[in-house]
Amino acid sequence: MFGATLLLLPLVAAASHVPYEEYILAPSSRDLFPASVYQVNGSVTNANSLVQFSGKGATFNGVSSVTLDFGKNVAGLVSLDVSSASSSSAFLSVTFTESSLWISSEYSDATGNSGFDRPLWFNVGKGAGKYTPATKFQRGAFRYLTVASNTSATVVLDALRVNLTSAPDQNLRKYTGWFHSDDELINKIWYAGAYTNQLCTIEPTAGDSITSQSDDISLPEMNNWYNNYTITNGTSTITDGAKRDRLVWPGDMAISLESIAVSTGDLYSIRMGLESLFILQQADGRLPYAGTPFSFGASYTYHLHNLIGMSFLYRFSGDKAWALSYWDQYVLGVKWALESVDSTGLANVTLSADWLRYGMGGHNIEANSILYFVLNEAQDLAKELNQTSMNPHWASVAAGVKSGANKLLWDSSAGMYRDNQTTSLHPQDGNTWAIKANITQSETQRKTISAALKARWGPYGAPAPEAGATISPFIGGFELQAHYIAGQPNAALDLLRLQWGYMLLDSKMTQSTFIEGYSTDGSIHYAPYIDDARISHAHGWSTGPTYALTAYAAGIRFTEPAGKSWIIAPQPGNLTTVDAGLASAHGIFSVALQRSSGERYSWFSFSTPSSTTGIVQLPGIEGILISRTGQRVRLVNGTAHVPGGTWKLQSS
Ligand SMILES: *[C@@H]1O[C@H](CO)[C@@H](O)[C@H](O)[C@H]1NC(C)=O
Ligand SMILES: *[C@@H]1O[C@H](CO)[C@@H](O)[C@H](O)[C@H]1NC(C)=O
Ligand SMILES: *[C@@H]1O[C@H](CO)[C@@H](O)[C@H](O)[C@H]1NC(C)=O
Ligand SMILES: *[C@@H]1O[C@H](CO)[C@@H](O)[C@H](O)[C@H]1NC(C)=O
Ligand SMILES: *[C@@H]1O[C@H](CO)[C@@H](O)[C@H](O)[C@H]1NC(C)=O
Ligand SMILES: *[C@@H]1O[C@H](CO)[C@@H](O)[C@H](O)[C@H]1NC(C)=O
Ligand SMILES: *[C@@H]1O[C@H](CO)[C@@H](O)[C@H](O)[C@H]1NC(C)=O
Ligand SMILES: *[C@@H]1O[C@H](CO)[C@@H](O)[C@H](O)[C@H]1NC(C)=O
Ligand SMILES: *[C@@H]1O[C@H](CO)[C@@H](O)[C@H](O)[C@H]1NC(C)=O
Ligand SMILES: *[C@@H]1O[C@H](CO)[C@@H](O)[C@H](O)[C@H]1NC(C)=O
Ligand SMILES: *[C@@H]1O[C@H](CO)[C@@H](O)[C@H](O)[C@H]1NC(C)=O
Repeated sequence: MFGATLLLLPLVAAASHVPYEEYILAPSSRDLFPASVYQVNGSVTNANSLVQFSGKGATFNGVSSVTLDFGKNVAGLVSLDVSSASSSSAFLSVTFTESSLWISSEYSDATGNSGFDRPLWFNVGKGAGKYTPATKFQRGAFRYLTVASNTSATVVLDALRVNLTSAPDQNLRKYTGWFHSDDELINKIWYAGAYTNQLCTIEPTAGDSITSQSDDISLPEMNNWYNNYTITNGTSTITDGAKRDRLVWPGDMAISLESIAVSTGDLYSIRMGLESLFILQQADGRLPYAGTPFSFGASYTYHLHNLIGMSFLYRFSGDKAWALSYWDQYVLGVKWALESVDSTGLANVTLSADWLRYGMGGHNIEANSILYFVLNEAQDLAKELNQTSMNPHWASVAAGVKSGANKLLWDSSAGMYRDNQTTSLHPQDGNTWAIKANITQSETQRKTISAALKARWGPYGAPAPEAGATISPFIGGFELQAHYIAGQPNAALDLLRLQWGYMLLDSKMTQSTFIEGYSTDGSIHYAPYIDDARISHAHGWSTGPTYALTAYAAGIRFTEPAGKSWIIAPQPGNLTTVDAGLASAHGIFSVALQRSSGERYSWFSFSTPSSTTGIVQLPGIEGILISRTGQRVRLVNGTAHVPGGTWKLQSS
């Protein structure tokens, strides 16, 4: 039964049905009402009528408030339908918060560096009607909303609605990718990651919430806030976070880009973000730390992430004309990065800015691993675009980076790389990137690092000692990939359940989107910030599981643009069923598998577009792949090269 259903999936997906749509957290309508009443203070009659539009009205009798729960993190522009107010001086205020920790009738959680954000005020004493603030007062993300009356007046509120403004160009529930397994927590994590990125995708005219940069942070009271800065061209863009910063950050894209590509497939919003970054390239080749209007300094690693953004987008879109139009800028960007490489073969980093970790400088392992990764991406991209003149040079510099890193930074006693030559700190970022980038020289070395990383996990996840007592779901996303690449899928799954499980289920979180960072003791505190209310609870850089599960658990990876060639190499670990897919310009790619015991598959099938070819890797498995059109290809050493089509394994 299982198998028969699964084989039909690619066809079903091609039609209008979205597989596993029931897991999608995005609402079907952009006209949102609260899901429940969380709390009432003072006297409010009929508060529950605000939950669904009943037309009955909630009555605020004097000073009072209602806290409404949308049941998940949402975003947009609030409006109040008021039918009466007993005094012309009656006011209602609205405050927002992502975490239940900051529920208040006095203030919203924070978008600035310190303090809280001011409420929105509505002079509802002006009479019956619909009160909607200016568009710039759309709130980037909130789960809880408190409406408060601050006078002795009687006010009847018929309805409170939110016009959901995120992902403006998307049909919100029409995902092009899907993931399902026998583990419900893992499934929910995949979909929460996809939804997080939807909230982080915004109208480009509604960017930049870091308004308090111009405020005096020595006055930690109430900050003004508004979302009205145009951060990119076009009609939609990805940003780092829904509430904050609402800016394009290239580093964050190193995770969010791939997770978007395998879920909603909204490549347009990625392209708008990237183009806004490449516009800011300096004459010497340096690319920005963040998009406009952020003006702070420069970062070696984020410079490199701009370049990764370009090659990653091309890998999913296959838009050669676009890639060619940015090729000269790309080459100049690589050149700038190579100016830091010294006689050791390694880059000596002199720009300290990174993902808000500390001690980014010198011969740093993270920076050099990312550089090595970029040099390999650059050579592949050059081949794709038939622009290979720099490849010999890039290959030779890359070889020097790799040997320098292993000679100077590998600490065999710890089984990890040191952060730089003058420290005994073994960073999470550099060790995970060393595996991801293939700075490592053997399977044994990768497994050693994977085990050492795992040995450091605490009760709430994988620590990033390079950033204090911090759990970074950004770097954790690379750690997931590192365990898979090291051939340790169960380590990746265990970390998913431990860390993203905590992030999804804890009552201080939104239970729908992923937070940008928290403390190793599980508290909602992110070491780089002085203000806990500032932390973003919907951050694209925390969505690594969505891509990791599709690319490694299901094992679907593109090796040429838009999947013209691909590899299917599932690593389900202890998942017993996996059913996943995604779409590109070539068509739909899917994998369905079931295992009853050990490594053997009781069912394995996959489907790829007929215009493509690829490699199937099922280590340890013997058998024949049979296509729907009757082709038969035997696995040799667990590997087979096959043309696109719908294939099923017949084990032997
Ligand atoms: C409601 O009252 C309780 C108890 O006084 C207080 O802790 C809470 O902050 C109030 N909530 C709001 C939204 O004002
Ligand atoms: C209610 O809030 C409004 C807006 O801040 C303010 O102008 C008004 O004075 C307040 N009324 C009372 C009775 O505090
Ligand atoms: C929501 O806002 C958009 C503009 O951002 C507008 O076109 C649309 O009509 C609004 N929807 C509702 C239900 O108010
Ligand atoms: C955004 O709104 C603020 C507050 O009203 C205003 O001062 C600022 O000029 C606006 N910025 C833009 C770019 O419109
Ligand atoms: C929009 O595109 C124009 C033309 O390329 C460019 O000058 C401008 O800087 C872009 N705006 C943003 C916000 O990237
Ligand atoms: C080397 O690494 C340590 C630990 O992260 C850090 O404290 C130090 O500042 C780094 N050195 C440089 C030159 O950045
Ligand atoms: C890196 O360059 C800086 C500036 O030129 C220099 O002071 C420092 O010693 C160099 N670090 C290493 C590890 O070579
Ligand atoms: C690749 O570039 C070379 C040199 O410019 C040119 O001779 C060749 O025709 C190009 N090949 C393709 C497939 O465009
Ligand atoms: C990783 O590097 C090793 C040499 O250390 C090389 O043999 C291997 O092919 C590389 N793997 C990939 C995926 O490039
Ligand atoms: C997979 O492993 C986790 C713990 O590592 C365990 O909780 C779970 O039950 C296992 N699932 C199966 C199907 O063995
Ligand atoms: C099969 O794989 C093993 C281990 O990777 C390798 O040593 C062997 O040469 C392979 N055999 C063939 C026929 O490719």
